[in-house]
Amino acid sequence: MKKISDRLFYVGVNDDDKVLFEGLWPLPVGVSYNSYIVKDEKVALIDTVESGFEEEYLANIDEALEGRAIDYLVVNHMEPDHSSLISLMLERYPDLKIVANSKTVPMLSGYYAVPQERVTVMGEGESLDLGSCSLRFHMIPMVHWPETMVTWLEEEGTLFSGDAFGTFGSIDDDVVDSEGTFDEFRDEMMRYYSNIVGKYGNPVQSALKRLSGLEIKRICSTHGPVWEKNIPQVVSLYDKMSRYETERGVCIVYGSMYGNTAAAADALAMELEALGVPYSVHDLAGNNAGELGVSGALRDVFKYDTIVVGSPTYNNGIYPPVETFMKALQSRLIKGRRFYAFGSYTWAGASVRLLNEAASALNFEILGEGLSFPQAYSRDKVDMAAVAELLK
Ligand code: FEO
Repeated sequence: MKKISDRLFYVGVNDDDKVLFEGLWPLPVGVSYNSYIVKDEKVALIDTVESGFEEEYLANIDEALEGRAIDYLVVNHMEPDHSSLISLMLERYPDLKIVANSKTVPMLSGYYAVPQERVTVMGEGESLDLGSCSLRFHMIPMVHWPETMVTWLEEEGTLFSGDAFGTFGSIDDDVVDSEGTFDEFRDEMMRYYSNIVGKYGNPVQSALKRLSGLEIKRICSTHGPVWEKNIPQVVSLYDKMSRYETERGVCIVYGSMYGNTAAAADALAMELEALGVPYSVHDLAGNNAGELGVSGALRDVFKYDTIVVGSPTYNNGIYPPVETFMKALQSRLIKGRRFYAFGSYTWAGASVRLLNEAASALNFEILGEGLSFPQAYSRDKVDMAAVAELLK
């Protein structure tokens, strides 16, 4: 538990054991599930945490409450990493009312069989009086689910923002950020956005516009530090990513069965290095333990303006992990990128053509016909210096 102000308490937990968030995204530095208490004449709990942390979570709550009960549980977002302990709260606090919007109600019933009479429904802009302060609710649909809302505590200038402005990475005991915290979390915030929220650029833009009138002094997201000192940087990063804005650089993504497409990727990286072009390289075949694979590749798709994809021809198609990556680009509505394809084949090349077709369907700028080469990689066969010149 961490006291943030006289009436605001952090009661969330860190998860340093989960390997894959949503069963998909690696968590090399953990993740936090944030939950907050506003203690006034009435007591409100904002969201809960993932199941498996009951003991620590209840201890945090008890320490913050000092014997009092919870009057309201505000449900900003129903994804189970925040809603899993709703039933526990209803049981522990028999007079507790859930505060939610109308889109949340069927999810409360479907996930946790919450009876209607325990729910108070709030609409856009409506407020809940806690005594000396009040909570106001604003809908931010699709950031990250259709029912998602944020809660505004005007008296503290505090926005309980749900997943918005969240990041992967466990947080330290201080909970609240300091000057360098944004730089520390920037990469994990980009990975979180690109992996989890990346499909919803337009809804994030709508949410940012809706919230722009608030004088925000503190952001309490559901994942990551409480932001006080880095708010302009955090909001600006989310704004930039949701506009699909990038910087010049090359994200090289490849899969390789026997090392030939991998060797071509490495050769391209060396040529870009020599030219001073920023780049990153992502192996999707899972050969190297500890690499982020598609998760890290998506982060850098949101960072750089050029995507270079390497795939051997496999069953007359694209190598499956690379095909999955191309689908991830499509599902995130990635736009405005430059694109180049390469890859080896043994008896008939198809992957480069198919990659170019997939990139065309996304309206990417195709920088050349691509480089499809037979059998083994060699410098004579594969002129990556020329490709690097094309990309710079
Ligand atoms: Fe952290 Fe969309 O849940």
